[in-house]
Amino acid sequence: MGFIDELKAKAKADKKTIVLPESMDKRTFEAAEKIAKEGIADIVIIGTPEEIEKNGAGFDLSGVRIVDPFNDPNKQKYIDKFVELRAKKGVTPESAKEQMEKDYMYYACLMCKCGDADGVVSGACHSTGNTIRPALQLLKTKPGINSVSGFFLMEVPDCTLGCNGLFVFADCAVNVDFDAQKLAEIAVVSAESFKSFVGEEPKVAMLSYSTKGSAKHDDVTKVADAVALVRESHPEICVDGELQLDAALVASVGELKAPGSPVAGQANTLVFPSLEAGNIGYKLVQRLAKANAYGPVLQGLAMPVNDLSRGCYADDIVGVVAMTAVQAQQA
Ligand code: ACO
Repeated sequence: MGFIDELKAKAKADKKTIVLPESMDKRTFEAAEKIAKEGIADIVIIGTPEEIEKNGAGFDLSGVRIVDPFNDPNKQKYIDKFVELRAKKGVTPESAKEQMEKDYMYYACLMCKCGDADGVVSGACHSTGNTIRPALQLLKTKPGINSVSGFFLMEVPDCTLGCNGLFVFADCAVNVDFDAQKLAEIAVVSAESFKSFVGEEPKVAMLSYSTKGSAKHDDVTKVADAVALVRESHPEICVDGELQLDAALVASVGELKAPGSPVAGQANTLVFPSLEAGNIGYKLVQRLAKANAYGPVLQGLAMPVNDLSRGCYADDIVGVVAMTAVQAQQA
């Protein structure tokens, strides 16, 4: 069974309610039909009768719940919750209503916050920033986590490295500025993500262009400091750094450059030192090694919300819904 099939099986075993707020896109309906047929999750689509008529025509939506954001008996509850959460940021009942009607991502996050749904998948026709921002503002982070980050589950074909070609790469999607503390948090949540999605022990490499002091620079020190912070806060996590990518992945290079390291040559969870490195790194592996790149999956949020690529297919939405449902089982 492939990685996504395993996830779908996990999702079906304890069905969660996932909201798809992009009723302005036909792919939402195509995916919803498939998800309902396969029984992966209970789907809610947010949309007006006109949007459903225009983009959902021809799809079998039996088993899919439609919520009209202009005519929903629960709407006042969501407005009240929005104001309760954001009054200090200037949100009033009027501005809350307007925002929810204008941007269904807010509506979807409020459904989760009020316990009427377990997660959200969006981004087929919205930017990453616009998909993530409502979740950061309304759902916030898990206890003990300050920073949400985004990982890709990489499935590299014909590869014996990592966990037989499976890796977590992070942060590839969210944080534009890292200090050592943020990098340490990204490492901790990435280790948890690897464990929960792959089911094996994470071996976390904190990547750099230097291995164990081979180069001196503030950027290198930041990575080494992050390793120390992870060890201090989570001694149970198998982590090492700073490591160059070849030392992290290839046993012979690891032995040479970082002898005795518990991670070098065996890493399956790669924590990049910047968003540029992470974002470019996952795309290199995806394009040149023809890897499947599942994500970006957001980690560290109190409830799961995930982003889609704007070039995604309906099947990609189905896969991300399965990942979101599995995250919701563990939330
Ligand atoms: N973790 C937790 N909370 C956060 C984070 C974070 N990483 N970043 C921002 N927040 C919170 C802020 O504290 C703030 O909370 P508040 O309103 O309660 O005070 C709220 O989120 C909004 O923060 P802003 O800084 O005002 O939001 P901003 O408009 O800067 O958006 C965002 C944050 C969307 C994450 C931004 O950093 C961003 O766009 N990141 C890059 C995304 C991107 O383009 N990635 C690459 C493409 S993805 C791909 O290729 C797969």
